[in-house]
Amino acid sequence: MYRGHLAASAEEGLELAAKERPDLVLLDIRLPGISGLDALPRFREQNPDLPVLIMTAHGTMETAIEATKRGAWNYLLKPIHNEDALHHIRAALEHRSLSREVAQLKRELEDWRGLESLVGRSPAMQDVYRRIGAVATSSSSVLIFGESGTGKELVAKAIHRHSDRAGGPFIAVNCASMPEPLLESELYGHVKGAFTGAIRDKAGKAEVADGGTLFLDEIGEMPLAIQAKLLRFLEEKRFERVGSTEPVEVDVRILAATNLDLRVQIKKQLFREDLYYRLNVVSIELPPLRSHKDDIPLLVARFLSAGAGEPSGKRAEISQEAMKLLERYDWPGNVRELKNAIEHAVVLAQGKTIAPEHLPSHILQSLRGEAPAQGQTLEDLIRQRTHRALDVAEGQTEGNAYAEISADLEKVVIETTLKRTGGNQVQASKLLGIHRTTLRKKIEDYGL
Ligand SMILES: Nc1ncnc2c1ncn2[C@@H]1O[C@H](COP(=O)(O)OP(=O)(O)OP(=O)(O)O)[C@@H](O)[C@H]1O
Ligand SMILES: [Mg+2]
Repeated sequence: MYRGHLAASAEEGLELAAKERPDLVLLDIRLPGISGLDALPRFREQNPDLPVLIMTAHGTMETAIEATKRGAWNYLLKPIHNEDALHHIRAALEHRSLSREVAQLKRELEDWRGLESLVGRSPAMQDVYRRIGAVATSSSSVLIFGESGTGKELVAKAIHRHSDRAGGPFIAVNCASMPEPLLESELYGHVKGAFTGAIRDKAGKAEVADGGTLFLDEIGEMPLAIQAKLLRFLEEKRFERVGSTEPVEVDVRILAATNLDLRVQIKKQLFREDLYYRLNVVSIELPPLRSHKDDIPLLVARFLSAGAGEPSGKRAEISQEAMKLLERYDWPGNVRELKNAIEHAVVLAQGKTIAPEHLPSHILQSLRGEAPAQGQTLEDLIRQRTHRALDVAEGQTEGNAYAEISADLEKVVIETTLKRTGGNQVQASKLLGIHRTTLRKKIEDYGL
């Protein structure tokens, strides 16, 4: 059973579609306001898998091609015969339900193959699993801590999948990836005219996540003004779209992750203390990989099998020597760095067993550096440090490698100078030629 709605213009149709979320749209081309062809991408924008059937009296190739290019499912030639129209409508609806089914099966298959699940049997990881199990069914907020690349996003997905919201959407927002005004509208949506460029109403991620989970990644970098709005949202379960005073009510569970120490951020007045307590009802801390190295072989096995997506199904193998090296390395970029290293090695090994020489060179160099550095110049060391930072940055939307490398250098310089001056900051600032307050700030930043 389907219900039909009639609209007198494309504008009216778009509004109606936003409200009614139709299964299919029949769209005329010549309309009083904007044309059907121009409205077409907007319908698709609202809902990318909405089939749109164009009705046209101009059976020209141009219209047909243009309509298909803009995403029409098909077109009907006027005068329209009922039988013909019904046939196309049935085909479109069937296609839509099939593609949904395929998407659902794909998700289930991924789950089943476990590609999206956490690997590790160490006590540290067992502890993480227990905590995920304990919080999954509640609806409280969870704060996920841990160094970069430790699997915070995987934990968030696991909580969602094991919650009673699993059938609902899992929507992730990276709070560090865009400037404040954009982030606000990304989260809460906006109404037409709210700012230049807001040419139509748009739902925010908080609305899209209704009935599911909203994952706020890198929450430590969320701008203060948005933190205030988030606090209210957490308390009242509602918010307003940017430019509107009408409250939107949603049923959303919030998960948040950060690799920053939020207590330090609070001290620096970059993070609201009240929001911290509101989010941190339960927390899960992910261990750095160097503290559960016994999981390395299992993780390697996972990444080797994940790479074997070739039709031959052949899975890459790794030599004992190479595995030993992986277990000795300290993994500052954690599991992400390990995953990158395996992918790198699989490519270099070209189907042969992975040997030490296939591992990324900065890892080999760093391991060699465990013995007193021989013949290594300062440049060599900086080069290695840079590769490590770049490996980490490659997994992030916004890298921070430059700041991290510079911070490492600076820290050593200041530490060494302070040692020489016996902790005397005045003398140290004179020797270094930097201002005392600058020096003091750096000492604080680096926790010296
Ligand atoms: N325990 C694990 N088992 C399997 N894969 C993992 C595990 N931990 C991390 N990964 C993989 O490592 C990569 C990084 O994980 P994820 O994106 O969850 O890290 P993150 O903690 O969110 O890092 P960042 O703070 O840099 O965003 C992903 O490809 C993820 O699949
Ligand atoms: Mg992440």
